[in-house]
Parts: sequence; C-alpha cells; structure tokens
Amino acid sequence: MRKGVMSVGIAALVMGFSSAVVAGGDPAAGKEKAGICESCHGPGGRSLDPENNPVLAGKSEAYLLKALKEFKEGKRSPGPMAALCQTLSDQDMADLAAYFASQKP
Ligand code: HEC
Repeated sequence: MRKGVMSVGIAALVMGFSSAVVAGGDPAAGKEKAGICESCHGPGGRSLDPENNPVLAGKSEAYLLKALKEFKEGKRSPGPMAALCQTLSDQDMADLAAYFASQKP
C-alpha cells in the first residue's frame, strides 16, 4: 500500500517535470505575443467584458493550452479564436498559456 502511494507520487513528479520541459511555456515570451489577445481578453487577460470575452488571467496553464489546441484543431466553436489559433505554433500557445496563467485574476 505504502509503496503504491509512493510510486504514484513519483510518477506525478516525473510527469510534472517532463510536461514542463515539453511544453516549455515562457511567460515573458508569451507577454510579447499577447498584444492581440489582450485587445479582446483585456490587459493581462483580465477581461473588461467577461460575458463575451472570457477571463484568461490565473486560469491553469494546462487548461489554457488545451483550449488553444482545441481551437486550432477545430474541436471548439468556430469564430475568432479558431481562426487566430491557426496562426499560432505549439510554442506560441505554450508561451501564451504560461503568460496568462501567471497573471492575477
Ligand atoms: C477577436 C477577439 C479575440 C481575440 C483577438 C482573442 N480571443 Fe480568445 N476568445 C474570444 C472569445 C469570444 C472567446 C470565447 C469563445 C469560445 O469559447 O468559443 C475566446 C476564448 C478563449 C479561450 C478559452 C477560454 C475558456 O475559458 O474556455 C482562450 C484560452 C483564449 N480565448 C485565448 C486567447 C489567446 C491566447 C489569444 C491571442 C493569441 C486570444 N484568445 C485572442 C475572443 C478573442
């Protein structure tokens, strides 16, 4: 039992590290790319009109990255995000997710 709990803990730790390395989101790089996003989502992702443009600030990096990938792959609603995400590389999306996740809501 104890051993089982330990190995789950270690696996989670290893996964945490490796996903940080693979995603490689850099908040500083994300900030530089975020100008266009902030025109709809507000400064730092603190939306001024949250009913239409969701708040991004402080949401988890994994959640934001997943949303961007889904827009790009056409798995979410068509619209400005789907079109915009076509222009983003995996690195852009990782950086943007890291930046908005690091902002205070
Ligand atoms: C033209 C306005 C506009 C621009 C520019 C824009 N967005 Fe959006 N974004 C929206 C709208 C509207 C939604 C909600 C629509 C939906 O979920 O289909 C949304 C949804 C999202 C979501 C999902 C949020 C959630 O909680 O589900 C993320 C993440 C996101 N945008 C990130 C970005 C990033 C990063 C950029 C810059 C590369 C960006 N957006 C630029 C209008 C915009």
